[in-house]
Amino acid sequence: MSKAKSSRDRRINPAGVTRVTRSSIITTQDSQRTKPADSGLVDDLSLMSVSEQQALLAREGKSYQSPSTKSVLSSASGSSVPREALGTIGRLMKLGRVRNIVVVAGAGISTASGIPDFRTPGTGLYANLAKYDIPYPEAIFNIDYFSDNPHPFFSLAKELYPGHHRPNYVHYFIRMLHQKGLLLRMYTQNIDGLEKLCGIPDDKLVEAHGSFATAACHLCYTPYPAEEAKQAIMNGNVPICTFCAGAVKPNVVFFGEDLPEKYFQHAEDFPKADLLMIMGTSLKIEPFASLINTVKSTVPRLLLNRDAVGPFERRPLRRGDYMELGDLSDSVRKLAEILGWHTEIQDLMNSHENGVCCSYTDPSSSSGENSDSSETDSMH
Ligand code: OAD
Repeated sequence: MSKAKSSRDRRINPAGVTRVTRSSIITTQDSQRTKPADSGLVDDLSLMSVSEQQALLAREGKSYQSPSTKSVLSSASGSSVPREALGTIGRLMKLGRVRNIVVVAGAGISTASGIPDFRTPGTGLYANLAKYDIPYPEAIFNIDYFSDNPHPFFSLAKELYPGHHRPNYVHYFIRMLHQKGLLLRMYTQNIDGLEKLCGIPDDKLVEAHGSFATAACHLCYTPYPAEEAKQAIMNGNVPICTFCAGAVKPNVVFFGEDLPEKYFQHAEDFPKADLLMIMGTSLKIEPFASLINTVKSTVPRLLLNRDAVGPFERRPLRRGDYMELGDLSDSVRKLAEILGWHTEIQDLMNSHENGVCCSYTDPSSSSGENSDSSETDSMH
């Protein structure tokens, strides 16, 4: 096999990055209970921010209705009736009415671990990138910008590489969902690796925006040893592809890049969900944000976040939508208390964080793997 062919073949590669045809997303849209503002938005599978979508639609002569516009329109048509979100969802769970929970998460689940989110004014990562001298904040994760100048991302990557932070109560709550056999899948946008570190097994986790665990050339996708890439980046060097001499980067998904193959499991998972938990995300990035619209219309959706986001901005809330606004750790702890899990989560967290090996064997994992496996712990 020629080297060129073998490289092309690796586009569906062990690094987990793949090109998927347009038709697969159309199937997904067919199952959506509410279509996104413009279903064409998600025809392009690459990662896009809302502002990029606006530009795209403007180029195509279409109008874009922002979530905040939608909120204004819907609040004019009715007042909000507050629902006791945690009590209601807790009751459903205790009654055994919920068996397949899909968790959708963003940077807000890791702020309690000391990692800033992206968009919170003042403290978010995008408000603190002045030293990188980039044209606009999201350029640091833009693949075209990286192609021209990889240095800002590599400087930031030194801080972003996993190893400095520990999972917090929210991560362990999600692990407890798994341990109780209730977690169908967790879809995370986070690249901090804390989900794996707290013991959520690989087969329960979709890292939709990639991770630092693998690396590849940003041009030809030829895999590159992740540890060597890390060492080069930490030493201030640019790792270079041995095949095409392009810059190698960790397989964190950049704006303009395709999402990992595993992400497309959502087409099967979301229709099976009987509860959706949305935690710590602004729902500003497509195609991820639209995932939440692909559960069945009868399925309750619980938003745990500091602010109302996406479809939760509308008033009144859609039937079946629940939200608890405030600090995520507080909300999750309240839910854990309603469920009677709080002490168990604390014990799990203490034993795991103190390196005590739990005797727990995962009942729901098909492989029967132990969630405290050495693979999980060796990430750092
Ligand atoms: P954002 O920073 O956009 O949103 C985080 C959300 O979590 C905000 O609504 C915050 O108010 C909320 N939040 C933060 N801390 C919280 C806390 N302690 N309690 C409750 N809520 C809290 O982050 P994401 O939605 O994850 O992409 O951003 C999505 C993507 O945009 C990221 O994956 C990243 C970025 O560009 C890439 O890097 C490729």
